[in-house]
Amino acid sequence: MNQLELKNVCFSYTEGKPVLQNINLNFQNGKLYAITGKSGAGKTTLLSILSLLTKPSSGEILFNEQNIKDMDPYEYRSKQIGVIFQAYNLLPQLTAIENVELSMDIANMKNIDKASHAQALLEKVGLSEDEIHRPILKLSGGQQQRVAIARALSYDPTVILADEPTGNLDNDTENDILSIFKQLAYEENKCIIIVTHSNKVANVADYLYRL
Ligand SMILES: Nc1ncnc2c1ncn2[C@@H]1O[C@H](COP(=O)(O)OP(=O)(O)O)[C@@H](O)[C@H]1O
Ligand SMILES: [Mg+2]
Repeated sequence: MNQLELKNVCFSYTEGKPVLQNINLNFQNGKLYAITGKSGAGKTTLLSILSLLTKPSSGEILFNEQNIKDMDPYEYRSKQIGVIFQAYNLLPQLTAIENVELSMDIANMKNIDKASHAQALLEKVGLSEDEIHRPILKLSGGQQQRVAIARALSYDPTVILADEPTGNLDNDTENDILSIFKQLAYEENKCIIIVTHSNKVANVADYLYRL
């Protein structure tokens, strides 16, 4: 079964030529997808459509066979789909763990010890005890990328969207981040969709879509 399905999706910003034309794509759980394409090809636009931040001009998107236009966008974004933005979009004054806990608050998670869940996620993505309690401003790019991943996982979404998650990272950190995504797809049955320029990510992915 498709977790996400795009049918003839088109999109244009108010003026100018269309950015996306008749996009038909399927995404399943337990798989890693790479989306590539030149700068300006519409990759970030596609992710913002998949995360309901932007509405397609035409066409349909199905999530778990339900048309997403019938879903509450706020609910969808805070529970069903985890987004790792290109610029991380973390709150810089808060610590790593506070950023993760905040997203659990937004998802209205109850009956869970938020602090220990956040702690476990940050350890899982490779942050040390000291880094977990450090303000975002005092973490490196690679460490912030890990926090952004932990935050996207905090409410256990089925689908993870990541916009060039290894774009600014050194080789070793890129390998680490990639193994986290593989583990999420193959051991936790998540649907992982990565926009990337990296040949390494493209080679590892189960499916490669070019825009
Ligand atoms: N908010 C916007 N308003 C108008 N045009 C935009 C906006 N955001 C992006 N674009 C244009 O849409 C095209 C696709 O952009 P984008 O999805 O960011 O591409 P990519 O992520 O593949 O580099 C580009 O030509 C870009 O200039
Ligand atoms: Mg982009």
